[in-house]
Amino acid sequence: MKVPFLDLGRQTACCRGEVDAAVARVLDRARYVLDIELESFEREWAAFCGARFAVGVGNGTQALEIALRASGVGPGHEVITSPLTAPFTAQAILGAGAIPVFADVDERTLLLDPAAAESAVTPRTRAILPVHLYGRVADLEAFADITRRHGLDLVQDACQAHGAALHGRPLTAWSRWVVYSFYPTKNLGALGDGGALVTDDAEAAEAARLLRNGGVRGQAISELPALNSRLDEIQAALLRAKLPHLAEWNERRRQLAAFYAREIGPPVGGIPAEPGSHVYHLYVVRVERRAELQQFLAGAGIGTMVHYPRPLHWQAAFGGSPACAGALPVVERACREIISLPLHPQLEDAEAELVINAIRDYRLPATGSAERGMRSAE
Ligand SMILES: Cc1ncc(COP(=O)(O)O)c(C=O)c1O
Repeated sequence: MKVPFLDLGRQTACCRGEVDAAVARVLDRARYVLDIELESFEREWAAFCGARFAVGVGNGTQALEIALRASGVGPGHEVITSPLTAPFTAQAILGAGAIPVFADVDERTLLLDPAAAESAVTPRTRAILPVHLYGRVADLEAFADITRRHGLDLVQDACQAHGAALHGRPLTAWSRWVVYSFYPTKNLGALGDGGALVTDDAEAAEAARLLRNGGVRGQAISELPALNSRLDEIQAALLRAKLPHLAEWNERRRQLAAFYAREIGPPVGGIPAEPGSHVYHLYVVRVERRAELQQFLAGAGIGTMVHYPRPLHWQAAFGGSPACAGALPVVERACREIISLPLHPQLEDAEAELVINAIRDYRLPATGSAERGMRSAE
């Protein structure tokens, strides 16, 4: 038996009736952009997030850009973010005309380190953009405090954290903007691209609506420079079909994470005491000889990935290169050691057992009992 890293076909199969009905509804109504499916999804997504408003857009990258632009971020400004994230986080900062500034991550959680972020603040800094990487909520208490003291905006990249909360409070309790991606692999994924901004602030929501739609309110007159970035009716309808399953899917992720943690060791950062603060978009462990483990697992038919192999301050798009080695030592080492194991709601217990057994086999070298470079991140 093979264990693919992810199998999106299985997810669609388990709600195929609702998916087909959603598409048929849109085809029958024959309105494809900015109509009732989007309005309904925005209401339902805001309610799921415990927020007042949601604004559906084309993808998570543009959702971040819109949040930044609506906060007044523009040319000449700096935005501090994590160097360990999808490059799209920083592309959104460039999209807003600003400069991404990378601060190191916390050794234990691999999330943006609040102290490092604070020491990167300059007179040009306009916002801090922590990423709830792998589904785990960043230290929002610290970031809310830092941004308040320095008069900055706080934009949360929750593109990997659908359904996560902190201390029983919705993420919007900590800042005006929380941003999601509905890229197909996400905990809630469309069958194409999609994204949303979530906020409790009516004026912010209105600004985001204007920015996603060419700066146009009613008639074809642009009030300001803006994007064309609308979540279309088919994707909105598909997301509505999947949303009722999300809580259960997240619960299954937690179950599988607990199973892995028990049998092979905790993910990076460990299992948090507060279950709702982690939704296990990915299950990531650290290993010194990653290529060797990846190859070993591939030989056993088990798919793995690396999120992410190169820190953003080494990437040309953001003015960096590997010549920057040593600038942010915690993330640089992490990028050499992290590996994501298969974990998704449709993963069977038997498949998780195969992963566990293969890792146990890997840890048993032919010549002795010492572990082969596998270590927990804590
Ligand atoms: C942490 C993070 N931020 C931003 C994005 C960008 O989202 P999208 O692909 O919908 O533009 C992604 C997904 O790729 C992501 O994982």
